Amino acid sequence: MKRRPFIAGNWKMHKAPAEADALAEQLKRALADVTAVDIAVAPTFLSLPAVIARLRHSNIGVASQNVAVEAQGAFTGEVSAEMIKVAGAQYAIVGHSERRQVFGETDAVVARKVQACFRAGLAPILCVGETLPEREAGQEEAVVGRQLDVALAGLSADQVGALTIAYEPVWAIGTGKVASPAQANDVHAFIRGWLGRYPAFVARNVRIQYGGSVKGSNAAGLLAQPEIDGALVGGAALTVDEFVAIVQAAG
Ligand code: 13P
Repeated sequence: MKRRPFIAGNWKMHKAPAEADALAEQLKRALADVTAVDIAVAPTFLSLPAVIARLRHSNIGVASQNVAVEAQGAFTGEVSAEMIKVAGAQYAIVGHSERRQVFGETDAVVARKVQACFRAGLAPILCVGETLPEREAGQEEAVVGRQLDVALAGLSADQVGALTIAYEPVWAIGTGKVASPAQANDVHAFIRGWLGRYPAFVARNVRIQYGGSVKGSNAAGLLAQPEIDGALVGGAALTVDEFVAIVQAAG
């Protein structure tokens, strides 16, 4: 049975509150009739409250782009999963490659952030993916396997079964260089196989999104692959027509 598609837009460090509110309003109108696809957007922390308020009675969920490890305390500049939950978000992106590469998040930190999401009642979207040198060395499965081994250690089967995993090859992010549908599907199939260590419902339920230069024009080919259950969209999520086309390709 096909899993329900899940398309999420990662707005990264774009859209201050008024602009974010306007984009959310346009998406809300344009996507109001979609019933067969789960949809979410991830604004900056600053824009979260405006977007949450705008999308409250809509079919679009809201995600943060990151969470702190700890619930509260002397952690200057951090925002906890508990605060994000109370603000009204449903999801959190964790372990994005920009967090890993630019801000030095290790697999162990990512694991603690996944746990923070479950502690707070946020649904994690866990990002994994290899760099270009790792892909050229044929290491993509080893890297993704290691990222999963560490990030999901200690979680219950029910928790793993509630995850969304986003496979985002780093070489395809923001480069216009999209993985071919077959390349992406191969790694998705590897991830699905990795989930086979849990009871069968886990591999059956977990949605695996592809991320990396997804656009309206290439979404249908990617989403037609059996193991690709959705997309985590960066640049194209900032344009209403592009994001709508991607959602429609999923439905
Ligand atoms: P782009 O779609 O801009 O390549 O970004 C992908 C991404 O990083 C989504 O999290």
